[in-house]
Amino acid sequence: MKNNLQLTEDGRLKHLLSLDGLPARILTQILDTAASFVAVGEREVKSVPLLRGKAVFNIFFENSTRTRTTFEIAAKRLSADVVNLNINASSQSKGETLLDTVANLSAMHADMFVVRHAAAGAAHLIARHVAPHISVVNAGDGRCAHPTQGLLDMFTIRHFKGDFHNLRVAIVGDVLHSRVARSQIHGLTTLGCPEVRVIAPKTLLPRDVGNLGVHVHHNMEQGLKDVDVVMMLRLQNERMQGARLPSAGEFYKHWGLTTEKLRHAKPDAIVMHPGPMNRGVEIDSEVADGPQSVILAQVTFGIAVRMAVMSILAGN
Ligand code: CP
Repeated sequence: MKNNLQLTEDGRLKHLLSLDGLPARILTQILDTAASFVAVGEREVKSVPLLRGKAVFNIFFENSTRTRTTFEIAAKRLSADVVNLNINASSQSKGETLLDTVANLSAMHADMFVVRHAAAGAAHLIARHVAPHISVVNAGDGRCAHPTQGLLDMFTIRHFKGDFHNLRVAIVGDVLHSRVARSQIHGLTTLGCPEVRVIAPKTLLPRDVGNLGVHVHHNMEQGLKDVDVVMMLRLQNERMQGARLPSAGEFYKHWGLTTEKLRHAKPDAIVMHPGPMNRGVEIDSEVADGPQSVILAQVTFGIAVRMAVMSILAGN
């Protein structure tokens, strides 16, 4: 049900809620469309009329710097009318439910909702209740999924490495609480990456890690050996109630990415991080700002990828 909700009966993208269950042809369609939008951001006039007359509502119930801003830029570059609902100043504080908020914004002729929420399944819930002409994009729900982050990460890998079929990719850190890691794993396995590794302490791995099609490592030296791509994750302190965790210092010592540990990867390996970074916890500044880092390129590509998603959802 969760994944069928994303596709129309004839197999087109209707909502983007998760990469789980989306076929490779849809992921490739988004990446190829995004490639065509990269040049738009480099032009003097950075807009195209594909969403002219459409209203996009950004409703973020959790903080965001990159995702909310790049969705806004992407929608504006597509010539949409963009509304950023300030949740802290909204009537949610007076007890209005999520679905009532969405119903009222729908009554203002919304065409698309971009939703971030701490509760897993929030975007799915909205998608099940909106009118048929409205599309919903999940901009991160709990520890469940962050599909546009996964897609922009796939775009970045394809840009720097060309193809997924010969790659070894390591995802490092707090896999347990990371919606980004889940979307990355679904993206990589769907697009044909033959070896996806996760490197983490046992306490930061999900119970179902054995079902995700990844190789598990607890040691950076072994896990990073000869990889082409290193994807670091943020320690998600806000989702760690009651978890048995290493201290920040202990974590950095064993799983923080330093220049020394990066030497185990291939010499031309790229280093990625979805942001925000905890420097000196999961990554050393020398690596984050070093020659192998593509972290800021990820952010820039996020605009083209989000333009592609919204454009495809709008039927272009
Ligand atoms: N990567 C990411 O989701 O960053 P923000 O929380 O700043 O949107």
